[in-house]
Amino acid sequence: MQKPLLWIAFHLPEELLEPIKAYVDVKMWRDTEVDMPQQEFETAAYEADILWTVVSNRVTADVIKRAPKLKMIANLAVGYNNIDIEAAREAGIIVTNTPDVLADTTADLAFALMMMAARRTLEGARALYQGQWTGWQVLGMTGTDIHHKTLGIIGMGTIGELVAKRATGFDMNVIYHNRHEKDNAYGAQYRSKEALLQEADFIIVLTPLTAATRNLIAKEELALMKKSAMLINVARGGIVNEHDLYDALVNGVILAAASDVFVEEPVPTSHPLLTLPNFTALPHLGSATVETRLAMVSRNVESLRAYFHNETIPFNVI
Ligand code: GLV
Repeated sequence: MQKPLLWIAFHLPEELLEPIKAYVDVKMWRDTEVDMPQQEFETAAYEADILWTVVSNRVTADVIKRAPKLKMIANLAVGYNNIDIEAAREAGIIVTNTPDVLADTTADLAFALMMMAARRTLEGARALYQGQWTGWQVLGMTGTDIHHKTLGIIGMGTIGELVAKRATGFDMNVIYHNRHEKDNAYGAQYRSKEALLQEADFIIVLTPLTAATRNLIAKEELALMKKSAMLINVARGGIVNEHDLYDALVNGVILAAASDVFVEEPVPTSHPLLTLPNFTALPHLGSATVETRLAMVSRNVESLRAYFHNETIPFNVI
């Protein structure tokens, strides 16, 4: 009997396929330098019975319409905004993600990015590497303390809670905004979005990207923040309006910002935000540790194995 075709739209070390390779024929994007171009991804989707995707692979309604054999998408991420879930549901396609294994790692990076912005570490390192470190100045490269400041978390899911947990260890006062108030959020206090924007010294955005959260932080919201505030996005590009953020940083509406995520990834080096000294960028490193990436692969592998064995799929979104 012919085996189903699993198309892996990113490079994966072969040995990680061991638990499932008996069940499938595999095609893989083998380039480790460049993401699979969308055009080629669409051709892969057309051929595939199962797609294994990462956030840069856009599974639009159109892609789904032109994928006659597609039965399952395993997405190597907890967020699945790269997939048109409604279209997948209508087409009866199973979609799985990688919950519960990347929250601590992403919370660590959120915290690191906040500290990078607060302590101006990118600016400092850049000056050093470019031979512009001329000496120890009393007020040279001085940043802002995070301890005893107010951290506002927008989107209090598991990652938000773990950021709050870390922040209490740094003597921060933590407030949060979420669709629902939480009973236990490591002592963080609930605020309306407006109150949080006005009160926080640091704001970390941690919502999923949906129609409701696109441009959640734009001109109006930036204007409510303190002039000394710093905004950190480790969730998804598009939740913060990049154009409005650029204007806010140039015009002193807020002091600084940092982001691990961009509307277009990989972010072009010509992106205006990358020209600003008060903006710190990282290349979507939220879950990027060996331990966590392997755990994410295992989540997808468990779902795929369950599918091949006709068992209940453990980590399905739909
Ligand atoms: C990474 O960005 C994820 O959603 O897992």
